[in-house]
Amino acid sequence: MDLSKHAFFQGKIVPLGEANISIATHGFLYGTSVFGGMRAYWNEEKKRLFVFRPYDHFRRLLNSAHLMAMNIEYDVESLIQLTLDVLRTDDWKQDVYLRPTIYKADMGIGVRLHELKDDFCMFVMAFEKYVKNDTDAHVTVSSWRRVDDNVIPARGKVAGAYANSALIKTDANRSGFDEALVLDNNGHISEGSAMNIFMVRDGVLITPPVTDNILEGITRRSVIEIARKELGLDVVERSIDRTEVFIAEEMFMTGTAAQIVAITKVDHRPVGRGEMGPATSKLRTMFDDIVRAKNPRYAQWNVEV
Ligand SMILES: Cc1ncc(COP(=O)(O)O)c(C=O)c1O
Repeated sequence: MDLSKHAFFQGKIVPLGEANISIATHGFLYGTSVFGGMRAYWNEEKKRLFVFRPYDHFRRLLNSAHLMAMNIEYDVESLIQLTLDVLRTDDWKQDVYLRPTIYKADMGIGVRLHELKDDFCMFVMAFEKYVKNDTDAHVTVSSWRRVDDNVIPARGKVAGAYANSALIKTDANRSGFDEALVLDNNGHISEGSAMNIFMVRDGVLITPPVTDNILEGITRRSVIEIARKELGLDVVERSIDRTEVFIAEEMFMTGTAAQIVAITKVDHRPVGRGEMGPATSKLRTMFDDIVRAKNPRYAQWNVEV
């Protein structure tokens, strides 16, 4: 993994090798940290790097922190500024992935959220494809259920909850699938292991609502807007039954790491014609232009480094 040379740690930019926490840190012992996953994209013509929707990412990070009774001294504006500083320090000239984390920084034993010190840190790494087979993915329906809002809120990016995602991902991969669809406790499809899902039925783009135990994805929100404005598609947020995906015309997953991944088979059944559909294909192309700051209509989503 190609990691950054520098990180933001304990209030300043330091060499990555110095950005270390103790094995006694609360966030490590109990999964009491919340994180974000952002990307900055290299635009080859402009020879510039652009962070995609950092306001939305940091607003969600601070919301996740709020859910976990965390407080840090930074607001969205200052988090964006230090993100730009971190990226400039290493002078990145390629697509990168950023991992900001807010964590319970006290050391010692004691399961709770209150009366603990919180801190913020961030590192960067070079882009890697998250789902290797992103044009033709074969997914299964996981035997694991999604964490419920009353267990660990899925709308917060809480580190401890990613044990759920890891179980889902590993079992799907070891069974030969690229990814998995995860049911919530009501039996509806919530999302993938770390991405939101969409299907096209009768020409309508459908995605589960934020009340079906999903992470409120920023790629999801972007795709909804692009599909409506650029493709003129009807987009409906409603619960999705397990068997609906077998008869959908198209399916895809969205996420900052995954981007837009075409699903062409679910549990050995072809989705539509068993190949990437036209809406998925158009959205992938448009999304790639937008994140790289090549579409002036969406320039407000691109923050230049
Ligand atoms: C569980 C989960 N769902 C969905 C997503 C997609 O969210 P976003 O598009 O904001 O990256 C992610 C990735 O952050 C995730 O971890």
